[in-house]
Parts: sequence; C-alpha cells; structure tokens
Amino acid sequence: MTSTTAFWLAGRQVTGEDSFDVTSPWDGRVVGKVSVPSDAQIEEAVAAAYAVRDEFAATPAHVRAAALDHVSRRLVERTEEIAQLISAENGKPIKWARGEVGRAVSVFRFAAEEARRFNGGEAQRLDTDLGGQGRLALTRRFPKGVVLGIAPFNFPLNLCAHKIAPAIAAGAPIILKPAPATPLSGLIIGDLLAETELPAGSWSILPVPNDRMPALVQDERLPVISFTGSEKVGYAIMDSVPRKHCTLELGGNGAAVVLGDYASDADLDWAATRIATFSNYQGGQSCISVQRVIADASVYDRLLPRIVAAVEAQVTGDPSDDKTDVGPLVSEDAAKRVEAWVKEAVEAGANLLAGGSRDGASYAPTVLTDVPADTTISCEEVFGPVLTVTKADGEDAAFAAVNDSKYGLQAGVFTHDLQAAFRAHRALEVGGVVIGDVPSYRADQMPYGGAKQSGVGREGVKFAMDDYTYERVLVLTGLAL
Ligand code: SIN
Repeated sequence: MTSTTAFWLAGRQVTGEDSFDVTSPWDGRVVGKVSVPSDAQIEEAVAAAYAVRDEFAATPAHVRAAALDHVSRRLVERTEEIAQLISAENGKPIKWARGEVGRAVSVFRFAAEEARRFNGGEAQRLDTDLGGQGRLALTRRFPKGVVLGIAPFNFPLNLCAHKIAPAIAAGAPIILKPAPATPLSGLIIGDLLAETELPAGSWSILPVPNDRMPALVQDERLPVISFTGSEKVGYAIMDSVPRKHCTLELGGNGAAVVLGDYASDADLDWAATRIATFSNYQGGQSCISVQRVIADASVYDRLLPRIVAAVEAQVTGDPSDDKTDVGPLVSEDAAKRVEAWVKEAVEAGANLLAGGSRDGASYAPTVLTDVPADTTISCEEVFGPVLTVTKADGEDAAFAAVNDSKYGLQAGVFTHDLQAAFRAHRALEVGGVVIGDVPSYRADQMPYGGAKQSGVGREGVKFAMDDYTYERVLVLTGLAL
C-alpha cells in the first residue's frame, strides 16, 4: 500500500483528513498519495507566515544564505532519487529530470549568493540643491510581505525552486502551492528546508486543490502572488486582485528564426538538431519550447529536410529509459487536445511531414508546414511536441512573423551577424532574445519573463527578489558630506 506524503505547514510535516493519488502519465501507476490541507490548516500556515514576516525580514543574511546553500547541497546528494520522482509523476524522460535537479541545485546556490549581496544599500547625496544641504539618501529594499507562489507541472521541482529560493533570499515568507498533477517533487524541497534553522512559519508547502485557491488568492495577508501557468488562469488571478503585486509567467509560442547567413551545412545541421530537440523536450511542455520555425527563403529548402530527419530521430517511449528523448504528455486529455489542434490544421490545408499520431498520453513529435494563420495551432500555445515551419522573405519579414503573436516570451535567432543580432534585440517583442540557439535556452540567474500576453514581471533569482521587495529610502540629515 502506498504511504501518504504529508505536506509542510509552517516548517512542520502535517497530514490532513483528505488525500489524493498522484499517477504516472506513462503507465497510470500510482506514484504516491498526497495529503490535502484543510481550511483550518491553510489558515494556520497563513497566520504563521504573516506573524513571522518582520522577524524573517530581519534574519541575518548569513542564516538565510546558509539555509539556501544547505538545500543546494542536499539536492546534489539526492539527485537520482529526486530525478526518478520527477520522471515518475510528470512523465519527463529521466535525462531531462536529472537536468532539472541540476538546475534547482543552481537556483538555490544563486539564491544563497544573492542573499549575501542583496540590499547592500545605495547612497545618494542630496546636497545638489540648497534644500538638501547636509542630507544623504540611503535606499534599501524590504520585503513587500508574504509571497503566495503557485507552481506548474512542467518543471515540478525547478519552478518551485524559482518561487521559494528568492523569497528566502529576500527574507520574505512564502506559501507555495505545487501543481496538483506533480506535488511530490515540490514537497521534497520541504524535506531539505526542514533540516535548516529558518524560522517556523517562514515557509509552507501546501498542495491546495485548485478549487480552493480563490480564498487564498484573496487573502490580504498575502500581498505578493507569483504564478507560473496558463494565460487564462494567470490573468484571472490578476483580475481578481488588482491591488496585489502579481508576477505572471504565462505561455508562449516560441519562435526560432534562421536567417540567410546561417547557411553552411554545419550551421543548418546545428539549427535543425537544436530545433528538433527543443520542440520536443518535456513533450514540448515548456513555455519556451520551439513551436514556430521561421526560416529565410534562401535556406528553407535545405533546412526543412534536416528538421524533419532530426525530429524523426527523437527517441520516444518509457521516460525511465536513459535513451528516451520524448515521453508522454502530462495526461491523456492534454495529448487529445494536441491531437485535435493538429487535425484542425491539417483539415485547413497544413502539410503533415512527421508525427501526427497519439497513443494514450503520448503524442508523436510532429512537423507541419503551410499552416493557415487562423488555425488554433498558429495562434495559441500548443504545449506539446509540435513544430510549424514557415518561409520568410528576409530579416524584416522574419522578425515581423515572430511578432505576429499575442505572446512574447523568448525568441531564438540563428545568425552569425552581430548587427542582425542587435536588430533582433531591438525588433522582437519578447522578454529574451537568444542568438545562435533556440528560444528554449534559459540560464536560471538571468531575467526570465514575457512581453504581451506572456505575462508580467521577471523571474531569475535576483529579478524575483526585486519583485518580492520594494525600495525604501532613508534620508539622513545634518551630515558633513
Ligand atoms: C517555463 O516553462 O516557463 C520554464 C522554462 C524553463 O525554466 O526552462
């Protein structure tokens, strides 16, 4: 019989009356049973976080940094076990799950480093006018209050790390809600935090069912909401609490542009391999996976067959197998939705060059060309292993095609031309432009977030800390400056 995993309430491991099963999207087996907090237990966690907020903000940097370093080290020690868990509950191929643990190790380490240097304070002399004579302004950042972090299923460990680690580094208590499909990986972070000296109440990890979240979102003791997930849910949250500070990391339909100068055989082989890998990693369930390829007309005919071959070479199957590149999607319903969108595109005239079939929760890596602009797959985030390839006549047309989307998370531009790189940086309406690679490149310390409907605010450890805090100025008077 599967034992029930407790949740973390104000640093303590606690069970509630109800529980739910977590199942593998690959074979449907029960991976774990997770206890659900009652309303009273949620209230206890919120009250504890609220009560500890001043004490936590005043905790010395070395205490917070030591706790973060500890979590980072323990993640290294428990890498294989945690990677197996991510793979089991999410369906992510084991090699990508190991990579995810490695990224979370870095997130906690970066957060420890930022905790040590954050908020050193900035001095500004005010005697530039007569009225400011003898005055100096010192600006430091202070937490806005308790953070409510809401994490998605696609990176069940690392996107929890991106909520928790910056909050601890900034001295802001956090209540984290992991995704209902993949709560076990997020709850493991609690095992490691519980080994530290952080004050009780400064962190809770609560697998609250989605239908009970509105009350938590509305709670005035939680002034900051950091949400990663769908555009629909993200904006519904923000619209329901317009006076709160919301960071929304939402969808994208990442574009990879291949410009005309990227034309040697080696260039096109590299571009095709990267595109095929990163349209399919995690079954395409990443907000920055490659969904759209926009290739200059001069390279299109040589690039397309390479992409198709590289996509067909992706190894699909059991996520626990080291050789597997592409496992199942998070659920059969998710795969059925992708199937319906591809069918709609093909019926509207798109050419299917690879994939296009479903087996349970698995969807075959798929390549489409000539996709009509008004089809769902052209307009929305597919969040599945599907790629569309389009021809563009020159750089301006390619950049215009990237911008012809309601989303703007990241874009990749394959070019060797430095001037073109700068033109891309100026022209593309996205949160990040990656030169020489796919939009899917993310280093966890860099600012990450969207333009347009891809969201507001930035993650990336220091940038999330900025988001969780505000500037408070201290004016000193009567100084000999
Ligand atoms: C996301 O899907 O937004 C996260 C992508 C990543 O962290 O690599």
